[in-house]
Amino acid sequence: MDWAGRKILVTGGAGFLGANLCHALAARGAVVTALDGFLFGGGANPANLDGADVTLVRADIREIDLRNLCEGVDVIFNLAAQTSHMGGQRDPLADIDINAVAQVKLIQAAREAAPAAIVVHASTRQFYGRPQYLPVDEKHPVAPPDANGVSKFAGEQYWMIEHRTAGRPVVSLRLTNCYGPRLRIRDARQTFLGIWIRRVLEGQPFEVWGGDQLRDMTYVDDVTEAFLAAVNPACYGRVFNIGGPPPASLLEIAGLMARIVPEAQFVTREFPADRATIDIGSYHADDSAFRMATGWAPKVGLEEGISRSIEWYRSRLKNYL
Ligand SMILES: NC(=O)c1ccc[n+]([C@@H]2O[C@H](COP(=O)([O-])OP(=O)(O)OC[C@H]3O[C@@H](n4cnc5c(N)ncnc54)[C@H](O)[C@@H]3O)[C@@H](O)[C@H]2O)c1
Repeated sequence: MDWAGRKILVTGGAGFLGANLCHALAARGAVVTALDGFLFGGGANPANLDGADVTLVRADIREIDLRNLCEGVDVIFNLAAQTSHMGGQRDPLADIDINAVAQVKLIQAAREAAPAAIVVHASTRQFYGRPQYLPVDEKHPVAPPDANGVSKFAGEQYWMIEHRTAGRPVVSLRLTNCYGPRLRIRDARQTFLGIWIRRVLEGQPFEVWGGDQLRDMTYVDDVTEAFLAAVNPACYGRVFNIGGPPPASLLEIAGLMARIVPEAQFVTREFPADRATIDIGSYHADDSAFRMATGWAPKVGLEEGISRSIEWYRSRLKNYL
């Protein structure tokens, strides 16, 4: 797609993945509106959009009239979500409200104001639950381990229904753990790597919970490229897993961190009991369907991605604490 002059709406546009996508779209000449409600505990950060030629609308998708924002839009990248698994357990009603009910609201608004807009929806590997086999492909049974998994699955499925019943071009990308610049690193609410980066830059030891779990961490530039590549007729009406480079265990990732920053130290501890009940164990994706449909492949290996992330935060740490 030639992005120059295209009118784009990015929901969740001040968050981690949304902001990186906004930067990429604006750099390609798109006319970008980022909608974000700056939800407590999420990844939204005003600094995330520094330097991007993007219009930021601060509003909650549950509350505003979304039709004006959808008017004349060519593509909606739909990333706004309640993303905390523990948060979803604590307040499942708020979780459903954002991840499912507000999705239906956006679908209705887009039907009126942007009937032809393409939608790329940010979905998650979370609702596969504890994998029955690895790597996980799109045929793997869905068995959400927590409330957030249920609401995210519902939101995705409402969008897929919109494709089947209204013919809208919709693609859903089931993302694995993503990391890189603009990740929330203040605490462990986004991915574990966020708090690890913070601790390393503050000269403190970080904690590895468990250690044997496998993860296929995707560097954010590769995620951004996946979102852009999904705007492709070969993808419409389909759900795709998006993975990263070959999987590594948490202990291997911690070891890499210590190689990159020689002063980095870590301690291992048992997986906290309150999280163990919703933990999915090891995960890595079979994303060959998306690679085949689009030619996309992750380009940034773990060591390079972690190095780039550490360097990025060194000079910006104060904006992210
Ligand atoms: N980062 C990952 O590893 C990962 C993995 C799987 C799926 N995802 C999905 O990708 C999307 C983006 O995730 P992220 O990691 O960038 O999270 P994030 O928290 O950084 O971004 C989500 C953004 O949505 C905004 N938002 C939430 N509720 C809103 C509402 N009611 N109204 C307006 N804005 C609202 C938040 O303020 C936040 O900025 C989400 O849909 C998430 O489920 C992310």
